[in-house]
Amino acid sequence: NVLILDFGSQYTQLIARRVRELNIFCEIFPFNQIPSDLSAYNAVILSGSPFSVRAEDAPQPDLSQIRGKKPLLAVCYGAQYLAHFSGGEVAPSNIREYGRTNLSYIEAGELFFEGVSEGSQVWMSHSDTIKQLPTNGVKLASTKDVENAAYRIEGETTYAIQFHPEVYHSTDGSKILENFLVRIAGVQQTFTPNAFVDDIVAELKEKIKDDKVVLGLSGGVDSTVAAVLLNKAIGKNLYCIFVNNGLLRKNEFQNVLKQYEGMGLNVKGVDASSRFISELAGESDPEGKRKIIGRVFIEVFDDEANQIEDVKWLAQGTIYPDVIESISVKGPSATIKSHHNVGGLPDFMKLQIVEPLRMLFKDEVRRVGAALGIHADLLGRHPFPGPGLAIRILGDITPEKVSILQEVDSIYIEGLKKAGLYDKVWQAGAILLPINSVGVMGDERTYEKVVALRAVESTDGMTADWVHLPYDFLMNISNEIINKVKGVNRVVYDISSKPPATIEWE
Ligand code: XMP
Repeated sequence: NVLILDFGSQYTQLIARRVRELNIFCEIFPFNQIPSDLSAYNAVILSGSPFSVRAEDAPQPDLSQIRGKKPLLAVCYGAQYLAHFSGGEVAPSNIREYGRTNLSYIEAGELFFEGVSEGSQVWMSHSDTIKQLPTNGVKLASTKDVENAAYRIEGETTYAIQFHPEVYHSTDGSKILENFLVRIAGVQQTFTPNAFVDDIVAELKEKIKDDKVVLGLSGGVDSTVAAVLLNKAIGKNLYCIFVNNGLLRKNEFQNVLKQYEGMGLNVKGVDASSRFISELAGESDPEGKRKIIGRVFIEVFDDEANQIEDVKWLAQGTIYPDVIESISVKGPSATIKSHHNVGGLPDFMKLQIVEPLRMLFKDEVRRVGAALGIHADLLGRHPFPGPGLAIRILGDITPEKVSILQEVDSIYIEGLKKAGLYDKVWQAGAILLPINSVGVMGDERTYEKVVALRAVESTDGMTADWVHLPYDFLMNISNEIINKVKGVNRVVYDISSKPPATIEWE
């Protein structure tokens, strides 16, 4: 197990992902919350930071339990921190060193750089530079502009690098991390999807014993993988609830329910469509719609959970990025949902929480899902927002609009699948616009709805580029939609990226 101390760098999660790719488990902790018991950790990595070590309010953790006691790799800010407080010197550099550069010198015979040659591209992002190495520092590498691009400390298993091995542009970054973690620190590469499944199933059995657990399935990857893991651990004591809010894709409720039953899950499908649709009537404000859907979901889920006698646990599909966010250097984000605190907690929220995926990144959840034998179709599904089609129908929601959008969306998504484009797109969907436009069909003028199609590439939804779908594909889909869906006479394609646009229109 590897401990990553976060100084607030935008790249800290990437360090963790690179380490995990080496089949090594790691955990991120903020620099000011170092675990008191370090016995489980075989190595420590210090992240970069937006701070300068020379700033008064810069992070200055006490590393006395780590330095010289555990193998230590300090990245960027970490490297400067070690230098600045241990007899070296850090000063502002004349030029801000940012972007790609190459290692122009590498000290020969060092395990740390084994398999890495001079000329190797690295990624720099810093405005201070290490002018003088700390006491007992041995220079290991330089670039054209940075004399001390890497060093180690004689007599300790301490290494420091000014560049970022975790970003993709550092070509040998993973190799360097592997050299440090595996060859120098001797960490075992045993964190595989199968090993994770064995460990977590044993842990869940031990923790939950014969108690009953309730879990809300959404049809998405996270809740599905969480359910299958729990099912493996506790079988029929897992009660899954899948709510139809009437805003799912066409036939989604029936299809996904069938798939869940086929997987041996103890699942109850609750069709609350008419309740959601009637509560939403007349609401056209995006946040208003989200609040109604959130509230009604909680009411429906609560009613169902209350029917399970003696249930003790609520399972959730929380994944690691959410956990990191909640314990981050900047503190828990201020977005704790307001409705949780209004009028007392719903009954199911008084349950103990179990989160089998809380240590996994999204791609790891998919790999664990594959190891569990979950069908690739389900694991490869595009993200779909909780409020569903409600936020893709601009303006107020009526059953007619829902059914028009379901038809359009289904033609679009099926079309992407048939054309082999579905897996190349991160998320796709159709949006029903609140305007009519003039058209002509046969000899008749029409005055009907406009739909927009959206397809984006992204890794995490934080930024996104619109996808250059082939014109022929767009032409065929547009024809099919206008010919088959009554009430639509115009199709447009959204060519906006995020930022400044967002993925959804509401
Ligand atoms: P935006 O529109 O903010 O979307 O660029 C980013 C990602 O978040 C999804 N999204 C939501 N998911 N509830 C959800 O569960 C919501 O209210 C919501 N709004 C947006 C969106 O589909 C995209 O994947």
